[in-house]
Amino acid sequence: MSEVNTFPAGFMWGGAVAANQCEGAEDRGLCVSDMAPHGVRGPYVDQQVPDEYYPHQVAVDCYHRYLDDMDLMAKMGMNCFRISIAWSRIFPRGDEEEPSEKGLAFYDRLFDRMLEHGIQPIVTLSHYETPLYLVDHYGGWRNRRMIGFFLNYCQAVFKRYHNKVKYWLSFNEMNNLLDYYFVAGGFRIAEGENEAEAMYQAAHYMFVASARAMALLRSIDPTCKYGCMVNSSTLYPATCNPEDVFGAYCGRRRKYFFMDVQVNGRYPTYIYRIWRENNVHLETRPEDFEALAANTVDFISFSYYRSNTYEHGKQTGSDTGGFISEPNPYLERTAFGWQIDPLGLRYVCNEITDLFHKPLLIAENGMGTYDVMNDDGTIDDSYRIDFLKRHLLAIYEAIQDGCDIMGYTYWGPFDIVSAGTAQMSKRYGFVYVDRDDEGHGTLERRKKKSFDYYRDVIATNGAVL
Ligand code: BG6
Repeated sequence: MSEVNTFPAGFMWGGAVAANQCEGAEDRGLCVSDMAPHGVRGPYVDQQVPDEYYPHQVAVDCYHRYLDDMDLMAKMGMNCFRISIAWSRIFPRGDEEEPSEKGLAFYDRLFDRMLEHGIQPIVTLSHYETPLYLVDHYGGWRNRRMIGFFLNYCQAVFKRYHNKVKYWLSFNEMNNLLDYYFVAGGFRIAEGENEAEAMYQAAHYMFVASARAMALLRSIDPTCKYGCMVNSSTLYPATCNPEDVFGAYCGRRRKYFFMDVQVNGRYPTYIYRIWRENNVHLETRPEDFEALAANTVDFISFSYYRSNTYEHGKQTGSDTGGFISEPNPYLERTAFGWQIDPLGLRYVCNEITDLFHKPLLIAENGMGTYDVMNDDGTIDDSYRIDFLKRHLLAIYEAIQDGCDIMGYTYWGPFDIVSAGTAQMSKRYGFVYVDRDDEGHGTLERRKKKSFDYYRDVIATNGAVL
């Protein structure tokens, strides 16, 4: 690539993690993600039992190692980094009136270290981290009282950090409520209950909470920016059968619904039919709609991992990577079966731009797979370099298409616990962490080959691609 082909000046290059997947649970209350036994994608357990191993309890010990990890990220030249605050570190139960000073001080130290390195923090307020106490005692986000608890938490962190953190995201991948409601929305559904109604009710309270949090942030510091975060791994029609084409369109729209409400401040018309057909009746108040209309996001952030195909009558739900489907014969897949589709990322950037006309932050993208350490301790993850390169080139093309892309935060730049399977062996990092699926290992950090590659990409603002 020649000089003319670098990314725009000021492009945000970084990484992204979530508290529950990296920090460990010391000095905090349990949250929904802690209820995943290793190697399992749900059902999450209701209670932990003594003999089972729960990987999030230690994760990769960022509670004690975050500052060193930030030094490593700085060596790659990152100028931003997305973390989440563990809500249950600030309010261990979730319904306390006063925040934990120890919890607040922990993130002060982290933000200070990031800023010393010129790394702009981007903070997700809730990344699959609803305090478990709120689920067990209040029913989680199915209960309107959650809005108040969430605002109390937001008030504490906005007031404390607004000078250090200028970019805030509300709920991680709210659209994963569709299949993943316990972690994404912190609630349970009893046998025989109307799932759709429970899900859309929780979504309504989360939309209102997010809008009111935005109003709060603006009143505390109008220089801060607030965005939504939606899983946007995409869906193609499997054939040109109009049923497949329209089905894929409806599938994408079910995801974009969660952007639509937060960007446009009202429910889109198509949702009323979905509610009618699923017997969904929501508890709402007039002031809810006023809050939604008055507080629309400044930017859109999203995750993109893969594309899938929709074949009429064959849809089977989704997981952390997006829809699940039959293999697409045009695409390769990772060892975990996730289809590798860089052009899909360009497609998604363009589609979201056409629909919503907002700045975009690619808040998650990456390759989770098995890595092998050679006898000399090196890890040659050339496949990850190839993945990264092709996806960054796709972003470059999307920028040329006219998309306003603020930045790119690669998912899991040091290995962390997988959200979908609670495994360590599903690794995304440019930095290897010595820990296995059973919790053995020194937790030592070690650079992989991709570390230097991402460093060179950032140093040249993309010219090295
Ligand atoms: C996203 C989540 O859905 O996908 C992350 O926001 C998650 O928390 C990421 O880790 C990758 O999924 P997984 O299951 O490979 O960890």
